[in-house]
Order: sequence, then C-alpha cells, then structure tokens
Amino acid sequence: MHAIGIDIGGTKIAGALVDEAGTIIRSERTPTTPGNPREIEDAVVAMIQSLSEGENIVAAGVAAAGFIDSAQSTVYYAPNISWRNEPFRDKLEARLDLPIIIENDANAAGWAEFRFGAGRAYTDMVTLTIGTGVGGAIVTNNALFRGGFGAGAELGHLRVVPDGLACGCGAHGCLEQYGSGRALLRIANDFADAGGIGLGLAAARERRGKLTGKEVGRLIQDGDGGALAALRQLGGALGQGCASLGAVLDPQVFVFGGGVAAAGELLLEPIRAAYLEHLPARGYHPEAEFAIAQLVNDAGVVGAADLARLHAVR
Ligand code: BGC
Ligand code: NA
Ligand code: ZN
Repeated sequence: MHAIGIDIGGTKIAGALVDEAGTIIRSERTPTTPGNPREIEDAVVAMIQSLSEGENIVAAGVAAAGFIDSAQSTVYYAPNISWRNEPFRDKLEARLDLPIIIENDANAAGWAEFRFGAGRAYTDMVTLTIGTGVGGAIVTNNALFRGGFGAGAELGHLRVVPDGLACGCGAHGCLEQYGSGRALLRIANDFADAGGIGLGLAAARERRGKLTGKEVGRLIQDGDGGALAALRQLGGALGQGCASLGAVLDPQVFVFGGGVAAAGELLLEPIRAAYLEHLPARGYHPEAEFAIAQLVNDAGVVGAADLARLHAVR
C-alpha cells in the first residue's frame, strides 16, 4: 500500500505518494512562508488531500526541521521555524482522515538513505544533512535511533567549540554554526573581507550585491581558491565532529546530504582527512566509509512515507 511523505523545508513544502519500494508515484511542491505555522498547516493539509485523491493510503509522514517528541506528535522546538511545543500531528489529524506521524527532517532523509540509498549495505550509519542547518540521523543495528524523549540525533547541536558562536537552538558552539550551508556563507564572506584567496568571492559578492549559497557552489565548481578553502574549513569542522561521533556510535558509514553535499568529493575529502586526524584510537580503529546521499531532494519525502508506513503497520 502507498504512503504519503511530506517534507517541510525553509522555502518549500514537498510531498509525494510513495510505494513500498520507496518509488515516488506522484509528487507536488508549493512555496512556504517561513515562520507562519498556520499557513504551513493549511498547505500540508491541502497537499495530503490532493495526493490521496483516489488512492488507498495507509498513513502520512510529515518531516519537519525540529526537535520532535517520542509520540511523533509535537514539535518541541524548531530553530528555524517559529514552532514551540506545536501539537502538529493533532492539528493535522483533526482535519484529515488518516494516521499521521511527525518526523524530524534529517531522520526522514537519513532513513531513506539507509533503506534505499547510500546506507543500504550497512547496519550502522550516521547521516548529516548540510543545509540551512545541520541535521542528523542515526541508524544503529538497522534501527532508527530516537532517544528517550524522541528528540535524539540532533547532531547539528553537538557542542564543538566551547563558548563558540550563538546557535538558533539557544546554545553556543554547536556544529551547525561551523558545518552548515549558512556557516559556509559566513566563512566565504569572511574570506571575501580578508582579500587574498578571497578575491574571487569578493568579486562575486560585488557583482551580485551579496553572496548566496548558489554563487558559492558555482565558485566551488569553478575551482575558485577562496570558495574551495571555505569548503575545506567547513569539511574540517564536520570531520572532527565525525571523529567524535565515531567514538560514540561507531558507524560503518557517514552519509552527507543537503544542498552543500552537491559539492561531492570536494566536501568528502576534507571531512575524511579531519576524521582520520582526530579519530580516537587512530590507526587501530577501523575507518568508516564516507558517502554522498543518493536520494538527494527526494530523501525527506521518501523517508517520511516509509517511516509512516512502518509505524502504521507495526
Ligand atoms: C534542527 C534539526 C534539523 C536540522 C536540519 C537543525 O537546526 O535542530 O531538527 O534536522 O536543523 O534541518
Ligand atoms: Na535528527
Ligand atoms: Zn545549536
């Protein structure tokens, strides 16, 4: 039976009708107004209604960027949307005749990679999604890890710099501030300010009025020295994070998704180097694999649908 997956992103809501093999039958997308919970709710309801028309649906999973409770019902806190203790599942279920679960966006994407993508061949996997924030998903012994309150695997909020930069979660020094797409832009702007290898970045900033993620991505592909150095700095922070995560979780593979993962091997190379340099029991601890996510933009909807189906039929 088919399930529906919805992925609420910063700029768009994506939805899909997904079969048991993780194949998308039909998909839709609509822009979101960031920070308007009621509009998001209306858009999600409309999308689920339209995707279920004439279909026999077992459940719907809704992926959102935030800390979710263990009942997969309430968003405790969303650093980049104005949700605080938002009873999102109840609101949706009141308007739809379908079992719904709310899922962390990175958990959904990571689960899709584990089931159908870059994590298929492993039992233990860590996924980091590198977008506006840094999302995390942990699979241990073939199962998705949720933690005691449901809000585990918030790997972007590992404290990697004591008293470092302020984070949207309210803490300081989180990995998200050193390893996200936003962090890449910050580093790129710093390089542009400093001149030297940053001259290419400065010129691009001058041309466009400001640097955007897209522009930095293009400069990376063009081999611009400053953009590549910014990416290496980002990878260095992520690789150190992976070394510590290796000590806790001992995954066989780290999978990287999100917009910045489009840099591919250029991102993985500095991550791997920093991981190897900082890995506890280095030289003796088996080396994990590093891979780029395979489902790319579809991971969130495919994973949310699969998790909703597994939840409904268990
Ligand atoms: C949020 C996570 C989310 C990640 C990626 C972080 O700021 O805390 O819940 O998975 O961003 O969207
Ligand atoms: Na997560
Ligand atoms: Zn944080």
